Amino acid sequence: MRIGVLTGGGDCPGLNAVIRAVVRKGVSVYGHEFVGFRDGWRGPLEGDTMPLDIQAVRGILPRGGTILGSSRTNPMKIENGVGRIKENLAATGVDALIAIGGEDTLGVAKQLYDREVNVVGVPKTIDNDLSGTDYTFGFDTAVNIAMEAIDRLHTTAESHHRALICEVMGRHAGWIALHAGMAGGANVILIPEKPFDIDRVCEYVESRFRTRYSPIIVVAEGAHPIEGQMELQAGTLDAFGHVRLGGIGEVLAKEIEKRTGKEARTTVLGHIQRGGTPTAYDRVLATRFGLQAIDAAHEGDYGKMVALRGTDIVRVGLDEATSELKTVPVERYSEAEVFFG
Ligand code: F6P
Repeated sequence: MRIGVLTGGGDCPGLNAVIRAVVRKGVSVYGHEFVGFRDGWRGPLEGDTMPLDIQAVRGILPRGGTILGSSRTNPMKIENGVGRIKENLAATGVDALIAIGGEDTLGVAKQLYDREVNVVGVPKTIDNDLSGTDYTFGFDTAVNIAMEAIDRLHTTAESHHRALICEVMGRHAGWIALHAGMAGGANVILIPEKPFDIDRVCEYVESRFRTRYSPIIVVAEGAHPIEGQMELQAGTLDAFGHVRLGGIGEVLAKEIEKRTGKEARTTVLGHIQRGGTPTAYDRVLATRFGLQAIDAAHEGDYGKMVALRGTDIVRVGLDEATSELKTVPVERYSEAEVFFG
């Protein structure tokens, strides 16, 4: 078989580990050949390929990013996008495609599968917001990066008696904020799933100062106040119609300063959470996903996404994986609330 591989959407640590596992098992156990498509769906759309053999995947396990490149190209928004992808797959002799991506990339994979393209999906995202899998790789690395940042913020906040706010990614899910905030001992964690009450946040801040400690507030980029409490600016949209988030940390700092009279400053972690070397957990999860994905492609079990259930790697339908966003349940947030203030 000749199998195409692509990585789409926002990158995350562990993508290279998947590519390596797919190619290593595919070549050495099954004798398949591989073609790398560059920059997500742009690759098959434009027939932009690169060689992908065992030599090409040597030494990439610990490297962040993706050797294939990535993009947020949406072929469904491009005239005859599906037709062009099918033509280029045929022209490059590709029998099946392994698409490694998040909600958007796998959503396209599902639509291509419905139009008779042989696709297997692999879930990735630092946001951990894909239903169908307990965890996505990239998440653990992002959480550890954010936790280390929070640890560092604690010491400097205490020296200067300031409130320090740490804005983390995660889009419309609060997983990174929740896990990094719990692991880093944040005094307040704000997530998109529960609109926050600014009066309450300020009470937590003041109570923390009263006990002679400095408050650390972890805020997810998608978090927002109860309607009518504070003005927020609308962001621009990407090719999949998602709003570009970011900036809530700054707004929050100004509001806290205004209401409490205490100095409040913001650190936005941004793409630092997506870069660099994956944790051991993410390397192992990504490798196991890759091994399962090549098995599925070899067996012709298309229209599936590999997934983590407990400690097992299983296959679920792409529709199940992309039908709804996995957000933080109320009870998980309540566990963290015990430590607020
Ligand atoms: O989905 C991963 C993610 O890092 C989100 O947490 C974030 O909102 C978004 O991608 C940022 O995307 P970009 O790098 O395209 O600005």
